[in-house]
Amino acid sequence: MFTTLYNWQPTIEMRTEKILVTGACGQIGTELVPALRAKYGRENVIASDRHPVTEDLVRDGLYVKADVMNPVTLERVMSHGGVTQVYHLAAVLSAKGESDPRGAWDLNMQSLLNVLEAARKRKDCRVFWPSSIAVFGPSSPRAACPQQAVMEPATVYGISKLAGEQWCRYYFEKYGLDVRSLRYPGLISYSGLPGGGTTDYAVDIFHRALEKGDYNCFLKPDTCLPMLYMPDAVRATLELMDADFDRLTVRTAYNLWGMSFSPRQIAEEIRKHIPDFKMAYAPDFRQEIAVSWPTSIDDRFARRDWGWRQEFELGAMVSDMLRQLAAMKEKNTRYA
Ligand code: SER
Repeated sequence: MFTTLYNWQPTIEMRTEKILVTGACGQIGTELVPALRAKYGRENVIASDRHPVTEDLVRDGLYVKADVMNPVTLERVMSHGGVTQVYHLAAVLSAKGESDPRGAWDLNMQSLLNVLEAARKRKDCRVFWPSSIAVFGPSSPRAACPQQAVMEPATVYGISKLAGEQWCRYYFEKYGLDVRSLRYPGLISYSGLPGGGTTDYAVDIFHRALEKGDYNCFLKPDTCLPMLYMPDAVRATLELMDADFDRLTVRTAYNLWGMSFSPRQIAEEIRKHIPDFKMAYAPDFRQEIAVSWPTSIDDRFARRDWGWRQEFELGAMVSDMLRQLAAMKEKNTRYA
């Protein structure tokens, strides 16, 4: 049977997504914003942050300097931009949060509540919010930590993520707001620098290895943690946001895992490329945070519900990081 053009009906209503990214200049935003612009068009992605901006984010598309702690500003930006998706990335991470627990709680919770409220009022607005392995604590299973486990987080960051997950589920169940979330492990990236996290050593180490050939690690040599390379993290985020609504069974946040390694293991891997690389250890308060987290994560729900598969293992990640950072250094020297 032929379908003639005049009676053809689209089965799916197409709409142009208009996207707002808060905390756009942070570690995730620096890489997620370009990926969203490539996918949805640069005229459809508004990057926003309250801090001084990353030059590329402004040059390559729409940018708004806005503080997500101000609900009026947030609602105005969302309504002027006709926003249909918010990626709310602004947050204080684990180690930094411990120096000002009340401040971290206020920022992490209030900003999330502002976003959830603004999205609820707009109707048909989807939200992405990052959770973290920090929702787990010393009483959670250490290895292959399951989706549903005992959660007694040891940091204010973890407490705010755990409470935030429950708020996301609440808004979904109570108001039907389509909020989606991932429990990111430590994220390793070459473009955006992390700030104030416990897993940050696994990024700093590359910069020192290339610049000075040594690194003084703030964790003990055998402290194993779950990690994820940023290209995988960005892909996971886009895949979750694209996933079929009916297939999602987790409305708190999905466990997600890429690889696990210790400082000693990553140093050995780096030495395969930089044989003289030297590692020393001076553990500080972050050691206690690190050992409160699982060493690996069971992410079977993400695999089952929306087909999650990580690509990068430790060896491939280290080779790619070193290659990318060397290329960036070369480019900067050439154009300096
Ligand atoms: N990377 C984060 C931190 O170390 C954990 O989600 O705080």
